[in-house]
Amino acid sequence: MLALTVVHARAWLHAQSMAQQMRLVDAKSLQGPDKVASAINQRLQLTEAYCWDHSSPRPRAPGIALDSPAANDGTPFSNSIDPSLDHIEQLRQACQHRCPEIRGVMIPRLHGLMLYWLVTLLKPRRVLEVESFVGYSLMWLTEAIHHTLRQSQQVQPNQPCQLPAEPPVVGCELVPEYVALIRHHLQTHQLDKLARIVQGRALDTLKHKLNTAQPFDLVFIDTNKAQYIDYYDTALDQGLLAPGGLIIVDNTLMHSRVHSQYPPVQQVLAEINRDGPNSSDYVEPTYCLTEDQAQQAAQQVYQFNQHVANDSRTEQLLMPIFDGFTLIRRKLTRA
Ligand SMILES: C[S@@+](CC[C@H](N)C(=O)[O-])C[C@H]1O[C@@H](n2cnc3c(N)ncnc32)[C@H](O)[C@@H]1O
Repeated sequence: MLALTVVHARAWLHAQSMAQQMRLVDAKSLQGPDKVASAINQRLQLTEAYCWDHSSPRPRAPGIALDSPAANDGTPFSNSIDPSLDHIEQLRQACQHRCPEIRGVMIPRLHGLMLYWLVTLLKPRRVLEVESFVGYSLMWLTEAIHHTLRQSQQVQPNQPCQLPAEPPVVGCELVPEYVALIRHHLQTHQLDKLARIVQGRALDTLKHKLNTAQPFDLVFIDTNKAQYIDYYDTALDQGLLAPGGLIIVDNTLMHSRVHSQYPPVQQVLAEINRDGPNSSDYVEPTYCLTEDQAQQAAQQVYQFNQHVANDSRTEQLLMPIFDGFTLIRRKLTRA
C-alpha cells in the first residue's frame, strides 16, 4: 500500500510540475478565429458527452479511488455498462482529480471507446502506442485485446483466458514516474501479460528497442505534434507496421485550428469573425497549452496531414471526430 502511494505521488507531482509550466489560455483574452475555435471546442465536448452516454461497452463512472471497486452511481443506460472496464475510468478520474490542468493530455473517453471498437473489429495481433502518459489509452487498447482473446478462445465469464507468451500491446513513455504508474496499474488489474511499457525516448524505442521481425498491425500515435512526421515515417521505414496495418493518429484537427490554416477555411472564418461568435457559445477552452504552443502545434499537425496526404505508401481517412482522428492504412503493395 505504501509502495502504491509513493508510485502515485511521484507521478502526480511530476504531472503537477508539468502543468505549472503551462499557462492555461485565458478565454476572455481570445480574439478572432481563436474565439471561434473555443466555441467549437465546447460544442464538441457536449456532443462527446452525449455520444458517450449512448455508446457501449462503457465503464461505470466511479469515484476517484484508483484501487477501490467502483460503486454503481446511477450511470444512464446501465445495460451498456461493463464493470471489467471500470479501472480505466478510475484511472482517468484519478488523473483529472489530482491534476485538473492536464485533463486534456489524455484522449477523450469516446476516443478510448473508439480504439476499443477498432481493435475488437480488426483483431490486430500486435498493437503499438506512441506515447502513453499514465496509460489511459493504453488500457483501452489492452482491454480490447483482452476481449478479442477471450472471444477467440470462447472463454466463459469469470474464467481466465490463455495469455500470449509476449505482451501483444507495447506502449512508449519517457517519464519514469508515469511508466511506474502504468506498470503498477497493469499488474493490479492482471493485465501485465497483455501489455508492456518501454521507458525512454519514443523515437529511440521505435528505432532500436522493438523487434521488427514481429511487426505491429495497429499503431496509435498521440504525442508531441512536432514528432508526428518522425514517428509516422519511422513506423513505415523500419517495417514496424505490417502491410495492410493501420496507424491511428489523434488531434489531427488540433482543436479546430488546423483547418483554420487551410486557405478556403480562412476565408470563411474571416467572414464569421467580422461579428464574432454568439456570446452564449463563448466558453472556456479546456486545452492546456499557451496560445503560442497551440498555434505551433496546429502548424505542425497541418504539415503532418500534408505529409501523409502526399505519401503514396498509405491511404488515409481524416475523420472530424472531436479533435480529429486519422486512420492511415499501409498499402499492401509498393506504389
Ligand atoms: C498526449 S500524452 C499521451 C496520452 C495518452 N495517449 C492517453 O491518451 O492517455 C503524450 C505523452 O508523451 C510523453 N512524451 C513526450 N515526449 C516524449 C518522447 N520523446 N518519448 C516518449 N514519450 C514522450 C509525455 O510525457 C506524455 O506523457
